[in-house]
Amino acid sequence: MAARAILAIEWSLAAVAALTLMVALVGWARRGGRGLTALTDIIRWHNLPKDVRMRVLATMSLTVVALVGSWIAEAVQPALTITGGGHSREFTTAALLARKDTVSLVVQLDASYGRSMTYRAVPLLALLDGTRDDRSDTLEARAKDGFTAQIPLTLVIHGTNGGAVAWLAVEDPTQPWPPLPHRAASAGPFYLVWDHPERSGVSSEQWPYALTSLTLAESPVHRWPQLELPAARLTDSAARSGQKVFFSFCLPCHRLNGGGAGQMGPDLGRPMSATQYLTDAGLRAIIRNPGAVRTWPGQRMTGFDARTLPEADLGDLLIYLRAMAGASVPAAVK
Ligand code: HEC
Repeated sequence: MAARAILAIEWSLAAVAALTLMVALVGWARRGGRGLTALTDIIRWHNLPKDVRMRVLATMSLTVVALVGSWIAEAVQPALTITGGGHSREFTTAALLARKDTVSLVVQLDASYGRSMTYRAVPLLALLDGTRDDRSDTLEARAKDGFTAQIPLTLVIHGTNGGAVAWLAVEDPTQPWPPLPHRAASAGPFYLVWDHPERSGVSSEQWPYALTSLTLAESPVHRWPQLELPAARLTDSAARSGQKVFFSFCLPCHRLNGGGAGQMGPDLGRPMSATQYLTDAGLRAIIRNPGAVRTWPGQRMTGFDARTLPEADLGDLLIYLRAMAGASVPAAVK
């Protein structure tokens, strides 16, 4: 919003500058009484009277300053789009840092940095004010690199009664954050962090960084029916638990049978399910440590150790993936 306001001011300035230029030229042409031929004289710069030359120069400088200013304003003002309840709002870094509810927050064990970090942060629920409706039960957090977490809204709301509290950390351009481990860039400009994540079992993939948008949405199975278990397996509690694990750990990067919004990794169901061409041991190895199976410089997936993804959850996840390999895709999404 602030970026737009600055842009509007810059453009008005440019418009005023252009108008001054026209007035200067027309005034001079009238005085000379030479009508249209006066315009061709612009090229003969030294023929112009001194006051006109000065005005033209001043106008040009003003226009250049205005244009450069607007480009810079656009470049240095990252914005986060929050959508829900039928409307969309944009929040710039400056607007977020200036809020009254922005605090200094110490995160004891930051999931992305792997250590204690201090941020300027806004309570996430306050930012979602006015965006919630009855149907949306999921917060879709989209990052610049295609990572798209589907965070259950209950996890965020649970922060008001003893659970982990979600915050939007905002990178102050005057005090930039360090680069992420093994990365060139920081987690900014916008990063979803949790205070006391252990209280609600927040997963490592529920800390999306380099955010571009937050969108209130219906649950993944509502939006993508092909992620739902086949009818015969609906009451299988292990497969059901595996689906939950898949949604929080894998869906941010991988689609399954075309369902999902993640764009970093391949679809794990189509055209052939990963469970059909990888052995059980190979699949487990990729999930635990992809580098143990194969390595190359552009490798993006990071593994999940037994502390992040307990052995029982990994077992359930594989049950879900196998159940989905045989799943007939609903006609509506074929
Ligand atoms: C941060 C993003 C990310 C997350 C989270 C993630 N993956 Fe991946 N995964 C990738 C990318 C990217 C690839 C492609 C290879 C690479 O660049 O590492 C990949 C490759 C794979 C492959 C190999 C596919 C093939 O045919 O080569 C499998 C299997 C896989 N992931 C399974 C999973 C499972 C299961 C989960 C959840 C426990 C998961 N991944 C979580 C990004 C991710």
